[in-house]
Parts: sequence; structure tokens; C-alpha cells
Amino acid sequence: MPLAIWASLTRLDRVEQTPGPAGPPLTPRTAVVWSVLRAELDRRAAAELTVLDVGGGTGGFAVPLALAGHRVTVVDASPDALAALSRRAAEAGVPERVRAVQGDGDALAGLVEPASVDLVLCHAVLEVVDDPVPVVSALAGALRPGGAASVLVAGRAAAVLGRAMNGHLEVAAALAADAEGSAGPRDTLRRRFDAEGAAALLAAAGLTVEEIHGVRVLADLLPATVADGQPGALVELERALAARSPWRDVAAQLHLFARRPA
Ligand SMILES: C[S@@+](CC[C@H](N)C(=O)[O-])C[C@H]1O[C@@H](n2cnc3c(N)ncnc32)[C@H](O)[C@@H]1O
Repeated sequence: MPLAIWASLTRLDRVEQTPGPAGPPLTPRTAVVWSVLRAELDRRAAAELTVLDVGGGTGGFAVPLALAGHRVTVVDASPDALAALSRRAAEAGVPERVRAVQGDGDALAGLVEPASVDLVLCHAVLEVVDDPVPVVSALAGALRPGGAASVLVAGRAAAVLGRAMNGHLEVAAALAADAEGSAGPRDTLRRRFDAEGAAALLAAAGLTVEEIHGVRVLADLLPATVADGQPGALVELERALAARSPWRDVAAQLHLFARRPA
């Protein structure tokens, strides 16, 4: 294995095994996403990447990426989340590698130099914004040619199954029938996605979708005794199922990895 790739793996392994303010990333919620990101970081081994995390919140991904040697800008609408992010970055010893910017995901051009970013993250955001189209367009515009996007969205099928299994059949029916994948005005999310719809959204912004994985295929369905009792086995099973239909398609979240053509 080339030295640079080994150095990159070692840095990220150290992050994953380190408990602390960033938390251990290898959980059923994060393991599949980290696997995909790790492959991109390894591909760019030894490079200090410019990372943009749109709606990055308190830095669950931003701080580990900074610890792995990259420069991360988090653009988020919430000043409270950004304050927590800054504290977390300081506690992790990487305050100079994490820039917190308050702003809107669809107005990145005024906050981040266009075509300057190597890797953009947008996790659990497109389901809550007013309109995902301008946000995805802004993500694509921030990427340099050849740069990559990691986009995590809420899955519609899992939400329908979850509501039905809890006995809320009318809500499940509404969710399945609604064009946006919302269960109505009391729903906490504005929309949910299937793999094809999410991929089409990214493609319309000029991004080439390279991979789609399911995240939390099983994690939310298992009794806590199973999930908590066998965390390592669950992570491995999630990884094994993530890329394969039909399991991918019923995951609580869908992860799309896309690239701006070089
Ligand atoms: C569900 S949290 C996800 C946080 C983080 N990305 C994660 O996966 O843990 C959604 C985040 O998006 C931010 N957000 C919501 N609407 C936004 C917008 N229009 N522009 C930027 N950030 C936004 C919220 O403040 C919040 O921090």
C-alpha cells in the first residue's frame, strides 16, 4: 500500500477510534457514509482538501474531517448550532481548521468562492429546506470541476413502513401518496426521497451520481436490546446491505455520492 494512502487511513482510523467531542463516527448512522467518504479521501491521499458542509450543524462530520487534516467550512442557518460547532472544534484542538458561517444553503455564492471546494457535504438538509432545487444548484456551483458531493436525504419508503408498523395506517397512506413524501402539515419533514428522485435532483444540477447507499436499513427497526447488544455486528450488516436492492431502498436515509464533471 502506498505510504500516502496508509497515512490517510491511519489518520481517519485514529479519529474513528477516538471518543470525544466529535463522537465515534462508526455507528449504524454514520458507518456507510464514512466508508464512502474514506474512499474519496484516500483517492486524494495526502492532499489537504477544502470541504464545505452545508447545514453541517454541530460538526459531527466537520470536526472529524478537520482532525483528519482538511479545512472545513460549515454553512448553517442556526447560530446555536454554529456556536456548538465552534466549541466542539476548539475542544478537539482544530479551531483553525473549522470555519463557521451563518447562512442559507441556497445562497452559497456570497459565502464561499464558486468552484473552489473539493468535497461538499449536505446531510439531512434537503428534506427541511423550503426548496431543495436551489440548494443543490448552489452545492454544485461551489464544487470545483472534479469535486465530489456527499448528500444524505430522508427515505420515503422507510417512513411509510415505520408509520404503518406503528399502526398509523392513514399517515402511512398519506405519506405514500403525497408527491413530496410528506405526511402533511404536522410532519417534521417537508419531503422525503426515493433513490431515483434524489438522483434526478442532483443530475439536474449537473452532478454525476456515482453511488447510492441506504443508511440505517435496519438500525431503526431493531429492538434496542439487539442494536445496543451487538453494535459491531449491526454496523457490519448495515454495510453489507447498504448498496443492495431491495434493502437500500427501504433505508431510513439515502446517501448519494456525486461528482461535478472535470
Ligand atoms: C437535521 S440537521 C442536520 C445536521 C448535520 N448535517 C447532520 O447530519 O447531523 C439540519 C441542519 O440544517 C440546518 N439548516 C436548515 N435549513 C437550512 C438552510 N436553508 N441553510 C443552511 N442550513 C440549514 C439546520 O440549522 C440544521 O443544523
